[in-house]
Amino acid sequence: MTDAGSAAGLTVVHDAAELVVGPDEGTGVVVLEDAAFAALDGEVVAVGPTDEVLADYPVEDAETAIDATGKTVLPGFVDPHTHALFAGDRSDEFVAKLQGATYEEILADGGGILHTVDAVREASDDELAANLTDHLDAMLAHGTTTVEVKTGYGLDTETELRMLSAIDAAGSDHPVDVIPTFMGAHAVPRGADAEEYTESVVSDQLPAVAAQGTAEFCDVFCERGVFTAEQSRRILEAGRDHGLTPKIHADEFAAIGGTDVAAAVGAASADHLLHTDDEGRDALVDAGVTPVLLPGTAFGLGADYADAGAFLDAGHEVALATDFNPNCFARSMSFVATLASVGMRMTPHEAIRGITSAAAGALDRDDGTGTLRAGAPADAVVLDIPTASHLSYRFDTNPVSTVLKSGVVARE
Ligand code: NIG
Ligand code: FE
Repeated sequence: MTDAGSAAGLTVVHDAAELVVGPDEGTGVVVLEDAAFAALDGEVVAVGPTDEVLADYPVEDAETAIDATGKTVLPGFVDPHTHALFAGDRSDEFVAKLQGATYEEILADGGGILHTVDAVREASDDELAANLTDHLDAMLAHGTTTVEVKTGYGLDTETELRMLSAIDAAGSDHPVDVIPTFMGAHAVPRGADAEEYTESVVSDQLPAVAAQGTAEFCDVFCERGVFTAEQSRRILEAGRDHGLTPKIHADEFAAIGGTDVAAAVGAASADHLLHTDDEGRDALVDAGVTPVLLPGTAFGLGADYADAGAFLDAGHEVALATDFNPNCFARSMSFVATLASVGMRMTPHEAIRGITSAAAGALDRDDGTGTLRAGAPADAVVLDIPTASHLSYRFDTNPVSTVLKSGVVARE
């Protein structure tokens, strides 16, 4: 540990019953007992046994000191897949699904995503930003400190750009780090042809999105009845040419080649993977594409969960996300951890890795985000649970007691 020097901007979280530092050499996480961390000006500078950390960074010198006795401290949660900017209400669709309608039928009939597109096109810029802010507040309250948010409810250049501006407006005003993804290829608009619409995403939307300049990733819904593997590849390659890192929705309802596209374009992640077979998994592992599994979606659809064990057995990272959207109303990463454990047999420690460092990997963050190692951003969650394993184990009330973003209390 280094000397604290000036106490300016010192944050100390001490006496945690358990503290998760980051990934271990297997598929789990390094857990310290009776532990503390110190942060200076938003960056972790020391982590270890409480007495050692406090010897160098005394509580009296701290601007912010949190006594975590009896509690567990984790890196702030990273949610790497959401459609958190939307308008309107789709609870009627939820009821229709309970009565037997399928997600794909609803979309093919012009509902689902297309219903949300109508509501987003009608919403004002302020309304869009306010909707997202409400959801960011709820996510932060549940421990999320970094979140990816996709467009894709505009499906025309003007509304896709309005969505990016709303994401930027809500994100710049909020403690949660918001990472924007352009997803003009989220559905084929009513009355349009997939091939022609692909052309308009490539030739009209992408240049405008690149000129607007805030989007970091480009995503495509590669799915039976939506975009083919060939169309997806074209869009992601064009996005890459405009400086956007590819991501892909693959194998949610049928395996139509999305995993091969992900490997071919060097995607940061391939997401959903409910129907991925051994070959698809091997393609992702070999190409270093992070699988992002979305157990809330399977839960909400009543579908079989993705095969997390097959990735973990191969020693591969498994990232987890909420997929928060009007079809999957889930903003809590601790509930995602529970579903990952109960639905996909991930240990609580594997699930914690999935919602922290592995999730940061799916967003190409290599600055230590998702860990509490020295040098990492001091994003942390103090939870009112006695051990890290209780995160998956409990699924009743919100276990979050305090959230720190860059060393500052963002929520308590
Ligand atoms: O990842 N499957 C495609 N996109 C979203 C759902 C969006 C919606 O239904 O509004 C997903 O689950
Ligand atoms: Fe999605």
